[in-house]
Amino acid sequence: MHHHIETNEIQPAEIELTTADSAADLFKRGPSRDTRFRSAASASSGDGVRLLRGPKSPRHIAVSAVRLFLIRLCIGLVGAAWGACVGVCLSYPFAYLGRPATLLRSQQVYFVLILVSIFTGAVAAVNRCGPTRPTRIARADRAAELTLARLSPTAPPAARCAWLAWLLVAAVPPLSAGACLGVPSPAQRRIILSIRTLGSLLPYPSAGPGVPPGYCAEFGAASLMEATHGPSAGQDVRRRLSERVSGAAGPAGRAWWTRWGADASAAAAALVIEMTLEEALRLVQGVGWQGYDVGPGWYGGNVLGVPRLELPGLHMQDASQGYRTMFEPQVGTVTAWPSLLALASTWDVSLSAAYGRYIGAEFRSKGATVLLGPSLNVHRVPRGGRNAEYLSGEEPGLGAAMASALVGGVQSTGVVAVAKHFALNQQETDRDSTDVYVDERALWEVYYPPFAAAVEAGVASVMCSYNKINGSHACGARGLLLRDLRGRMGFEGWVMSDWWAVHETEAAAEGVDQNMPGNDGYFSREALAGLEQAAGDTPIDETGGLPAAAPAPPAAPAAMGEAGLPYGLVGRMAFRVVRGAMRVGAYDGLGCHVGCDCGPVMMSAVATSAAHRDAARGIAAASVVLLKNEPPRPGAARPLPLRHGAHVALLGSACDAPAAYAVASRRSYWAAGDYYVVGGSGRVLFNTSASVKAGLAAGGVTVSFYDGDDPVQAAEMMSGATLAIACGGAIAQESWDRPHLRLDQDSFLTSLVSATADRRAAGVLPPLLVAAMAPGAITADWSPNADAALIVFLGGEATGGAIADVLTGAVNPSARLPVTIPVDETDTVAPCRELRCEYTEGLHVGWRALHGRPVRFAFGHGLSYTSFVYAWEQPPALAHAPSGIPLSASAAALTAPALNLSVSVTNTGGVPGADVVQLYLRFPAEAGEPELVLRGFVKTRVLAPAKTETVVFVLSRRDLSTWWPGVGWTVARGRVGVVLAASSRDERLVANFTVG
Ligand code: BGC
Repeated sequence: MHHHIETNEIQPAEIELTTADSAADLFKRGPSRDTRFRSAASASSGDGVRLLRGPKSPRHIAVSAVRLFLIRLCIGLVGAAWGACVGVCLSYPFAYLGRPATLLRSQQVYFVLILVSIFTGAVAAVNRCGPTRPTRIARADRAAELTLARLSPTAPPAARCAWLAWLLVAAVPPLSAGACLGVPSPAQRRIILSIRTLGSLLPYPSAGPGVPPGYCAEFGAASLMEATHGPSAGQDVRRRLSERVSGAAGPAGRAWWTRWGADASAAAAALVIEMTLEEALRLVQGVGWQGYDVGPGWYGGNVLGVPRLELPGLHMQDASQGYRTMFEPQVGTVTAWPSLLALASTWDVSLSAAYGRYIGAEFRSKGATVLLGPSLNVHRVPRGGRNAEYLSGEEPGLGAAMASALVGGVQSTGVVAVAKHFALNQQETDRDSTDVYVDERALWEVYYPPFAAAVEAGVASVMCSYNKINGSHACGARGLLLRDLRGRMGFEGWVMSDWWAVHETEAAAEGVDQNMPGNDGYFSREALAGLEQAAGDTPIDETGGLPAAAPAPPAAPAAMGEAGLPYGLVGRMAFRVVRGAMRVGAYDGLGCHVGCDCGPVMMSAVATSAAHRDAARGIAAASVVLLKNEPPRPGAARPLPLRHGAHVALLGSACDAPAAYAVASRRSYWAAGDYYVVGGSGRVLFNTSASVKAGLAAGGVTVSFYDGDDPVQAAEMMSGATLAIACGGAIAQESWDRPHLRLDQDSFLTSLVSATADRRAAGVLPPLLVAAMAPGAITADWSPNADAALIVFLGGEATGGAIADVLTGAVNPSARLPVTIPVDETDTVAPCRELRCEYTEGLHVGWRALHGRPVRFAFGHGLSYTSFVYAWEQPPALAHAPSGIPLSASAAALTAPALNLSVSVTNTGGVPGADVVQLYLRFPAEAGEPELVLRGFVKTRVLAPAKTETVVFVLSRRDLSTWWPGVGWTVARGRVGVVLAASSRDERLVANFTVG
């Protein structure tokens, strides 16, 4: 039974708030106004307020709306007339004084008054008409109810006071004053209810581009329920959803938003099937970008969620050295970690996992749930502008092992990892239009393995790249995503595009699930509808004859079909997104909703800590590759480590190079790099000094510094020192390849080493070490004449400290080169200048191409302050006789153990240290492989002198295979050599086994 009581004329005595019957109802039942309003007669006593409203006839509504409009208009007109009078009266005297501008201003006053009155009249009228528009009214109710909830006695005092503060500002001081302390008075309630009007008109504060009206308020409702009524209130909704999902998917009572792991498929399908088409479309493209800009409050990538289903959005951020600092206030709140190439040079899988956990934790602290990395492309072109971002270096096997661990580490924190840039994005020159042609064997043996390993590690997302492959853009290239990635590798996550890398809507039918950043319209509703009509519902599963890896979700809900798009395309795209995120728990415990309220956390939450900075320094130190450490003359000691009381002559401007952050012009250019971080979207700025000089000074080493690059003056500074260190660096940035491989100070270094060689050999001058900081391979004409050399592949904010740790011996170096240091740049592959880019070298990429030819420092090389000896414990033994494995062999068959061996590693030197044992195979010539291929490596723990560790290798059938075009991985027959080595050119143990 309804009472016909006007909303705006509520009788205070009849108002009661029912706290149990508040925002959660909206989620349970949807925004139906009938469930929102109760009659006065049914209002019970207790602590509740009933919002009273009865049904009205359309005529009644129309008449009262017109009446209200006219009343407000009249008030406005009276105000305007008054304003006009005042304006005119005041302006005449001024006009006589020759100040006509005042007159104008007074005209503006009454003009504004008229506008305001028309507006408020319209507002009132619309509000009166509201009951016929359920959505508007539901939103209004919610705003009022939320306010009431905030004011309820159970709400935290701080929340109540904060809300009342703005009521105070709204000029009702006497009414709101005492309410911080207790239950609102009837008069206060009346005021509060007027918020309904506001709520119906104003979008939630800070809603941004692409955010539908009411979106944030809906999320606000749930979080508010939790804030004011305790966790159980908001979770009521979640419980119901949970029941529905877990009923479909797995153990009863499982909360749907938590980490689902392997059970995510059914759970995600149960959620997606609840979505309307509009809601599903939200998941397949981003929002927040305007042109090429995204403002504060937005992440690098932003995907909205579905508040009706309590499904949050996805908050994406780059990635290559930690949480990308896009806005000035973020600098210093996050750690600038070593680059991924530096991480690769540790050859330490457990460190890679730890790195992933640290970075994942920082992303979470910043409210981000998707890490746009790791970047995995194998270096083909040493000048590649993004090589420092690429975890694989020149070696797919190194990339595969490190990627797998990193993905596991990141995703263990509930953050989605994104393997990128898939595929063949080996250069920045013409990166949008380079068209790569590569043979199938090189694709699977060299360029795919790091991605395949990430897929095996459960990576939830893959980013398709900018370049073209066989004539079409990677984000849509036929066969790349559906046949190779999903079909053959078994990828079950979602494919997102690189930013603006989709060039046509058809990409959706070729396997791109999400278009980023989403402002180009290719995945709009209209565009996808056109595609669906053209493509029908079948061709999207073209997987080269293989079964589709992703199970299709249950049949389409009618709503989707009716809305114009069959469930097949958009539903499946949305399904993959949700399933990937649910697998890793990216929806769990989210602190903010992008497009609504992520600004504060993204800008000022402090994600770094002393522990993280220490860890960054530890990883940076573990990444310092000691290239050379020779006694300057026979009988003399090696230059490193520095002895107690050493006096270092530090030479060259690069020893105290400022970070990009310290140089305004560099900071303001997004792609500017420095000697510590790579420029571009992966850049993490920091505001401390990372220089070698700062690191040594903090380490208590006595230093005299020459801040110039003149070899003569530098040589003069050397006398009297116990060691001279000359520095050099190179920078790199996204979207440009490096112009050459030389360090910026190459001629200074080359002149200095040769000018001082004789005097150093004679003991007149101290030994000279070159410290290089570089974003990838370099040429090092100075190296033959230097006594010692080290290189760091962009060590982040801890670079200087880490170099100091290695120089002083606080850390015994254990890093190995992930790239070759060639003799000459002409020994390497240059970026393609023609758009058609043929990888004619096939398998002979990077170090594999240079085997047997002179290099400065070989792939896998790196010195220690101690030495290690290897001995067989168990020589290679075939687990069983492997035979050819057809393409259709299950993944389990390919990864099953096929060859076991173990080796003991003994520290035979005088200080503790860790070693990296590298396992290479030498295939029979008929296999057509390069001379050696890396098939495994193990980093030992830090071994005390005379201690031994047993290192076990288990090679799979795939490890013993090569890729046969059109067939797949096939075990190579014949005599195969197993080489255990300290670098690709330092073979220690060799054994053979025969297959076939
Ligand atoms: C880069 C990606 C990055 C994206 C978002 C693109 O320019 O190629 O690596 O994730 O921007 O910032």
